[in-house]
Amino acid sequence: MPSIKENISLKSLNTFGIGANARYFTEISSENEAQTLIKDDFRNYSKYLVLGGGSNVLFTDDFSGLVIHQGIKGKKIVEEDEERCLIKVGAGEDWPFFVDYCVDRDWGGIENLALIPGQVGASPVQNIGAYGREVKDVIESVEAIELKSGEKKVFSNKECRFGYRDSVFKNELKDRYLITAVNFLFYKNADFHLDYGSIRDTLRQMDIDKITYKTVAEAVKQIRRKKLPDIEETGSAGSFFKNPVVDENFFEKLRNGNSNMPFFKMDSGYKIPAGWLIDQCGWKGYLEGHYGVYPYQALVLVNYGGATGKEIADLAWRIRDDVEKYFGIRLQPEVTVI
Ligand code: EPU
Repeated sequence: MPSIKENISLKSLNTFGIGANARYFTEISSENEAQTLIKDDFRNYSKYLVLGGGSNVLFTDDFSGLVIHQGIKGKKIVEEDEERCLIKVGAGEDWPFFVDYCVDRDWGGIENLALIPGQVGASPVQNIGAYGREVKDVIESVEAIELKSGEKKVFSNKECRFGYRDSVFKNELKDRYLITAVNFLFYKNADFHLDYGSIRDTLRQMDIDKITYKTVAEAVKQIRRKKLPDIEETGSAGSFFKNPVVDENFFEKLRNGNSNMPFFKMDSGYKIPAGWLIDQCGWKGYLEGHYGVYPYQALVLVNYGGATGKEIADLAWRIRDDVEKYFGIRLQPEVTVI
């Protein structure tokens, strides 16, 4: 039975480095522990929060309920042949380490998702993505426990209803399941995806003989290090907002006044980079004491040390209002604001 602690600081457990406290705190290290906790203890708490790597949350206050820190580890190859590998990975495994583990074995599919902070269990929740790839493409299924009943359920890829930075776990099933493991299906001769951003140029500069999943991951790491803050040094949660998708009419109107606006054509419309919109409004590099907007990517809000979650949220909402005023687009946060 996992022990329940009281008044625990979450500062080192969220990548924004916000000094919020959890009224109650526990860490689970197995599916059994999670089920025991739910069956025996849950009725004592008014609310709960499952915290993974803390890389996509902003605490604007102390949390008055129970924080369950995800610590389920382990990797198990379920099936493997010359072509593919199905592997079950504990939700508490570190995502960037897991990417390295896969590229070291020459398994393709998540090399473009190198260096994204967080845990494996959080990857399906918001369908993490970068450089033209999304994790949904390699997820076979997601194992989870219903927080109300303690019942286990396996969600097929389809049942996860993945979308751009979206899944059923952010919508209908928000806060209803605790993800315990993710089953990934990797192909050993998967295609490379090199057309997004500067991956190809970076590979060229790296002067390598042969492109492998590992060298692509290395290129992605180099690009990310240039554009995004190192969370060991600077508090942040990556992109604060999602990139908005607008319909064709609206897009044409926007393009008329902004011919240099970058965009991506999608099935559902046109995706406009929120970082560009924020940049155009003059927020890039904005600094207010110890927090602000990252100078190399306007979509990233940063805590240089000592900022409160309320201060950062307030800045985010000011930015959102400004973008709405200038472009008529209301940005949606990608980060979960608590
Ligand atoms: N841009 C600007 N100014 C800025 C930032 C961006 O003009 O301050 C322009 C860039 O020049 C480029 C375009 O906007 O033309 C897109 O920028 P970028 O390639 O940096 O990507 P993004 O759309 O801003 C998304 C993801 C990132 C991911 C990158 C690379 C979202 C919300 N963000 O950012 O994901 O790393 O693509 O694939 O989709 C994250 O989710 O935390 C994250 C970092």
